[in-house]
Amino acid sequence: MPADNNVMEKLVSLAKRRGFVFQSSEIYGGLGSVWDYGPLGVELKKNLKERWWRSMVHEREDIEGLDAAILMHPKVWEASGHIAGFTDPLVDCKHCKNRFRADDPRIKGTPGEPDAQCPVCGSRGTLTAPRLFNLMFKTFMGPVEEAAAVVYLRPETAQGIYVNYLNVLQASRQKIPFGIAQVGKAFRNEITPGNFTFRTREFEQMEMQFFVKPGTDGEWFEFWKAQRMEWHYGLGIRREKLRFHQHTKEELAHYAKDAYDLEYEFPFGWREFEGVHNRSDFDLSRHQQFSGKKLEYLDPATKERFIPYVVETSVGADRTALVVMCDAYREETVEGETRVVMGFNPAIAPLKAAVFPLVNKDGMPELARRIFDDLRRHFNVFYDDSGSIGRRYRRQDEAGTPYGITVDGQSVGDGTVTVRDRDTLRQERVAGDRLVSHLGDKLKM
Ligand code: GAP
Repeated sequence: MPADNNVMEKLVSLAKRRGFVFQSSEIYGGLGSVWDYGPLGVELKKNLKERWWRSMVHEREDIEGLDAAILMHPKVWEASGHIAGFTDPLVDCKHCKNRFRADDPRIKGTPGEPDAQCPVCGSRGTLTAPRLFNLMFKTFMGPVEEAAAVVYLRPETAQGIYVNYLNVLQASRQKIPFGIAQVGKAFRNEITPGNFTFRTREFEQMEMQFFVKPGTDGEWFEFWKAQRMEWHYGLGIRREKLRFHQHTKEELAHYAKDAYDLEYEFPFGWREFEGVHNRSDFDLSRHQQFSGKKLEYLDPATKERFIPYVVETSVGADRTALVVMCDAYREETVEGETRVVMGFNPAIAPLKAAVFPLVNKDGMPELARRIFDDLRRHFNVFYDDSGSIGRRYRRQDEAGTPYGITVDGQSVGDGTVTVRDRDTLRQERVAGDRLVSHLGDKLKM
């Protein structure tokens, strides 16, 4: 799909040029599948995380927040099944020493057989048969680098929630059904690189585990599926670009009774960016077994004891940011000129407005500065007085800034300014001292 690959190339280039995303350690040649967020990218991702947190924790009485550590007791990963099962089958090329996932679509033939061809060096018969490779990063805790000191960088945030489930339950005096939400870094030594920030080795997850009475898990699963799709609609993502995919038996993770992916149609095809999983009592039962601590819930009304079932919603903050960027990117022709626009929903746009003095004289910069100083106490806004006004608008279109506020000759006389809408290009005159409430109303989306 050459046209669509082109979109990704343009997006990657815009992301760097405007300060959304940079390659990690770029001056040293970069670090594979690791990315840094620049001034606009960090705002975008922060807005997404805050919106998620608000919808999960602040707007619901039955969900509590948590921030568990990245490093956990190594037994956690035995109990969770990650040490035994969090693996990808990989093949090596004996000639060029490159390593690939066994299902890499670029491989021709069957790895381990003479017909298989290395996708990098093109040698035939040099690919090994698939071997399992664990995706968890290992490190050592304490001063001695020995097997007994091995700890892992967590590959998902969920386990920090399970091992704290009783602590949170008791401290918050919640009753089942209730949930625990967490946002944090996760690490996976992924082997398939590419597609920009889609699959990275360090990323952030926004996960919520909802603990329910066995037998009610099916209903809650449907409830959370619907909620999560609505949340994505609320970000302004085009509905026709979103769909569910139910996992087949072969696709189901070791912990899952049922699972749906929420998929987005990226320029490189339909891909998952959120999972909604019915994890049954797998995780809590395993932690009870491995820790020897009772993790049962005593229902105060019926006096029944049971291990709760878990319905999980798990979405990547980075992958959602990529969805939002892909969905926002558009090129259009305005009066014979091409403009590139990041059409973010204003509520998640990194910058809410930019303030421009039309020219740098006649009292305009002073008034523009005053307006900027007033606005910045309420919103993330930008001041730009360099270049023609047309160029300044174009730069903000690329940054996805929904409103451009221009201070002109009339402003100095009557205190009004023009507010340009990024999408419609319409301009309206607004009193400078009404801007905070004017923008505030528009940004409530
Ligand atoms: N706790 C369940 C869990 O981790 P997952 O489907 O492996 O489930 C959930 O991951 C989400 O985390 C994915 O839908 C994706 O958005 C994000 N994610 C997973 N691996 C990722 C990676 N290597 N790079 C970026 N995001 C990733």
